[in-house]
This record gives sequence, structure tokens and C-alpha cells, in this order.
Amino acid sequence: MIENIINKYGTPTYVFDIAKLLKRVEYLKSKLSFPLVYAVKANTFIIKELENCVSRFEICSSGEYEICDSLNIKDEMMVISGVYKEEDVISNMIKNRNILRYTVESLNQFNLLKKLAIENKKTVHLLLRLTSGNQFGITKEEIKEIISNLDTNYLIIDGLEYFSGTQKHNIERLEKEIIDLNNFIAEIEQDLHFKIEEVEFGPGLPVYYFQDSNFDEDAFLDKLNELLKTLNKKVSLEIGRSIASSCGYYLTKVVDFKTNQNGNFAILDGGINHLVYYGQMMAMKIPYYDLYINSEEKDELVYNLCGSLCTINDILVKNVLLKKLNIGDVFVFKNVGAYSITEGMSLFLSHPLPKVILYKNNHCYLVRDTFKTSNLNFPKIEE
Ligand SMILES: Cc1ncc(COP(=O)(O)O)c(C=O)c1O
Repeated sequence: MIENIINKYGTPTYVFDIAKLLKRVEYLKSKLSFPLVYAVKANTFIIKELENCVSRFEICSSGEYEICDSLNIKDEMMVISGVYKEEDVISNMIKNRNILRYTVESLNQFNLLKKLAIENKKTVHLLLRLTSGNQFGITKEEIKEIISNLDTNYLIIDGLEYFSGTQKHNIERLEKEIIDLNNFIAEIEQDLHFKIEEVEFGPGLPVYYFQDSNFDEDAFLDKLNELLKTLNKKVSLEIGRSIASSCGYYLTKVVDFKTNQNGNFAILDGGINHLVYYGQMMAMKIPYYDLYINSEEKDELVYNLCGSLCTINDILVKNVLLKKLNIGDVFVFKNVGAYSITEGMSLFLSHPLPKVILYKNNHCYLVRDTFKTSNLNFPKIEE
């Protein structure tokens, strides 16, 4: 499949394998007995493919909302989240839609949602996001204040949202968070006589990107599942990375070489503007990749694999021993389904954006063609 895509579409290109994505979701569902909420920020190209196997989509910006809306995602599957909720956008949602849930990330957001719900006589369901001590969410005191002073039937507080960070591989840390959450819920229920019905919990599930990693995912998820059961609530799990990573491939070809006092460098037509491996350190770790080479080379060489940006940081892998490379050889980097496409610094150097292919039922669908970013970096002056 990959060879055909290389020949037909060229590089740089992302490929998202939908069968692999759905298999991954099935695996997560087999290990975790709670509905999944897909955090669309991880990859917006696979939202529609997940519509029938997750319970909701977590939407954190007006742009993500526009994408979901254009994909005809149903209102009841949307959770409107995000640290900044623009008044006109939220106003339009409350007035014209029947979106079921909004998270509350600040007291201002709460007041805005309250004002809009009352003005529009619409019932709005809320999840109050408990902060973990950063710019997101509100404090325990603020949550209690909101619950104690709730004076309208238009707002229904379903429960809490909690997400403290991504790539959390320490189960003890998750255990502590769940115990704290449990204690806080008990405090609310006892002191305020208010029932927390639901907890939307972001576990920040880890993805192991590098070849030396050693992770017992089965055991990790079993333990997490047991911990979540102790909440004794309707729990849903907000997940991005762990759902999306494994389905993604990034194809980039060798376009040039050089050798100097510091070694051999292979220059690729794509780099860190399109490829984000969380936890990569100075390109010292080796991600999972396949190499499609054009010749029968027997000799081997140690290479630094570099992208095409004007920064010395644009190294994908350092000091890797490979068969001697030729121009046109293609690297297929794996596990790039989450965040590479949405988080890469894709405007740097005005390189075109990669094509995006969805591979589904043995067919390739070109869902985004190459896109010239020079247009976006151009100062068009209005007359
Ligand atoms: C509120 C919230 N929920 C869920 C996620 C998804 O996290 P992950 O990709 O680690 O699953 C994020 C990621 O930033 C987030 O901010």
C-alpha cells in the first residue's frame, strides 16, 4: 500500500490508515469500560471516521467547531471546551444549536454561559473543569462557589472535567489524581448536598514512539480501569493521542546529502514542521520507521536525518546506521496520527503543506492536496 502511495502521491504526505484507527479504538474499548470522548485537536482528519465508535467529540476552538459542523457531527456529540470561548461563537451555538455540553474553564466563562442560557431560554449542561494548577480550569473553591450559588434552572451542572497533561505513563500519578478527585467529589456531595453525576476525565494516555521503549499497555490500562471504577460515577474518557497516533504515517524522501567534520547528513523534503514526536530529545531517539530504498546498496553509513527548515533543530534522527541512501529513497515515519498534523510548525519557511491521504477499504482518498503556505505568509495589503 505505502509503495503505491509513494508512487502516486509523492512526498511529503501523511497517510491515515482507517482500519488501523478503528482497530485501535476497539482495543481501547476492550480495556476501558467507559465511553470515549475524542479530543479532536489530535487530528481533525479522522473525526468522521470515529463518529460511530466514540460517544462525543471534545472541541476546543471555533475552528474545531467549524470543522465538526462541516462534517455534520451531531450537536449531542459535541462538548464545547477550550480555555477561550468567544462570546459571539458561544452565543450563536446557544441560540441556534442544541449542543448538550459546555465545559467551564473560568468564572467569566461561567457568567457568559449563564447569561446566554437565560437570554435564550435554553438549557445548557455544564462540566466544571477542575484545575491542576495551570492556566486551565477553576479551583475547588470556585467550583463550590458556582454550585452553591446556582440560581437558574437553565444551567445544569452535570459534573466535573479533569485533564492535567498528556503522555502520562506513571500510573501512580494517575492514581493520586483519581483519589484526589474522589475526595473532592465526596466533599461537594456532603457539604453542598449536590450530586456530581458525571466525570469527564482526560488520562493523557501515553504513546511509546521510540524503538527502545518497553511498555506493558495491557497492564497499564487494566490498572487505570480499576482506578476509574472507584469514582463510582458516569465516567467518560477524553483521549486524543492514544486513539490517533498509531494510524498515521508520514512519508518524506531524501533530496540531498552532505558530509562534513560532524558526519553525514541526509536532507529530507519534510521535517519537524510536519512531524512531532513527543519526548524526542535532540533527535537522539529513534522513532519507528520503514525505509523504501531504490537501489541494492550493501554498504552502510551513519546518518543524521535532517528536514528542510533553516534551523539546526530540524533533525529527525541523529546518528543512525543505514544502508547507503540515494536521492529519492523514502522514509515512512510511524505513529504520527496524533498532533503531527495539527501541532507541527507548518508555516516556517513557507514550505507547502503535505498531502493527506485517508486509506480506507483498500482505497486511497486524497482529503487534502498540497497547500501553498507562501499564500499565508504573504502580506496582502488591502487597497
Ligand atoms: C482538555 C483536554 N482533554 C484531552 C486532551 C487530549 O490529551 P491526549 O492527547 O493526551 O489524550 C487534551 C490535550 O491537550 C486536553 O487539553
